[in-house]
Amino acid sequence: MNDTHVLEDAKQVLLNNWRDGYTIPSARLYPFQWNWDSGFIAIGYSYFDEQKAMNEISNMFKGQWQNGMLPHINFHQLNPNYFPGLDVWNTQNLAPNTVATSGITQPPVFGFALERMHAQMQNNLEWLPFLRDIFPKIVAFHRYLYTHRDPFNEGLVYIHHNWESGTDNSPLWDDAFEKIDVTNARDVSGLRRDNKNVDAAERPTNEHYKKYIFLVDLFSKHHYNDEQIFKHTPFAIQDVLFNSMLIKSNKSLIFIGELLGINTDEIALWNEKSINSINTKLWDETSGYYLAYDLKTEQQIACKVSSCFMPLFAGICSKAQAQILVNNLQQHFKKDDWQLCPSCAFTEPSFNPLKYWRGPVWINVNWMLYNGLLQYGFTELAAQIKTDSLALMSNYGCFEYFDPRPTALYETKKGIGADLFSWSAALYIDFQLNKTHF
Ligand code: GLC
Repeated sequence: MNDTHVLEDAKQVLLNNWRDGYTIPSARLYPFQWNWDSGFIAIGYSYFDEQKAMNEISNMFKGQWQNGMLPHINFHQLNPNYFPGLDVWNTQNLAPNTVATSGITQPPVFGFALERMHAQMQNNLEWLPFLRDIFPKIVAFHRYLYTHRDPFNEGLVYIHHNWESGTDNSPLWDDAFEKIDVTNARDVSGLRRDNKNVDAAERPTNEHYKKYIFLVDLFSKHHYNDEQIFKHTPFAIQDVLFNSMLIKSNKSLIFIGELLGINTDEIALWNEKSINSINTKLWDETSGYYLAYDLKTEQQIACKVSSCFMPLFAGICSKAQAQILVNNLQQHFKKDDWQLCPSCAFTEPSFNPLKYWRGPVWINVNWMLYNGLLQYGFTELAAQIKTDSLALMSNYGCFEYFDPRPTALYETKKGIGADLFSWSAALYIDFQLNKTHF
């Protein structure tokens, strides 16, 4: 198919997934509004429907809690075809009256989403009023993270659920989950919908799901009080992807704040500390990777996944560090005519090219990696990531994730998980039409 057709198809994916004021990630699997999806999706709309781009974000922030927490799901309409639904979350006393929500968050995408949208939308008369309205809400979300999720005041934010990472079943979380005893937890295998709507082999196991829900039940028992949760949760991890996105978004908020004439000193202070800590605590000199840190075991998690490269996107590593990361990428993630970039190194024992975040290529990660590599001048590798991303989507469609191996050799289907997936479509549009760089 030629580029123009794919571009039109990608726009159509977004428009078909548009509901009343927001976009669902995919009709097959995800019937609500998701947090970080919504940021990527808004970038896509900014090229062809500016009103929807702004509505998407405004409607996401309707779910924001009073303490600033931005939930990972807004249940604008109820739908029985999803587990865990509202009855599991039990957030009625905390969510705004107007929108039902989940009780955990997702990576902070909105700062840099705004900066990206600004390039397309700065001449729109509604853009500045929109920025004025949304800017303090994003800052409040970041303030929530720094005050509720950084118990040692390091500038590094922790997540207390794997779903908060966005990279749900990444092997990064395996050791932490291994230690969670769920003998007395409830069995939720019969309640799951995801593994019935797509091939179960491409989804997390029942054993893992039991642990995911065990954590949600724990949060609900503690009424989502973060101090209590931190005391009792077995899962508290400073993730590289999450903190890199936070830093990148802080930088963009400083840019937007200056544009609006708003003082950004608070954000600059947060960021200074975060950048320093990510480069000391999460950088592992020996392996040449940025590694997540488990606050419960007080250890780095030595698992090579694509998240380890995200400080490139944040633009916070030195040239030397960037070169080391790129060498590692070439050695452990790039193979013959495989497509870039697998979510897990193929040299990891847990690598599985078909299973969700344990090997498949994800378009949002590719997009961040691409933009990161460009910042450091790795234009060839960046171009390959872009070419691979576009080829995967034009040959197979806007799937949720893709098998990185060459089809001819393995005879598998390349597009996996949900089809007609919104953020893949949105970022296809940005890959094709973007003229500026971060
Ligand atoms: C999956 C992804 C997560 C995403 C959600 C909705 O759970 O792992 O990152 O937000 O789907 O698309």
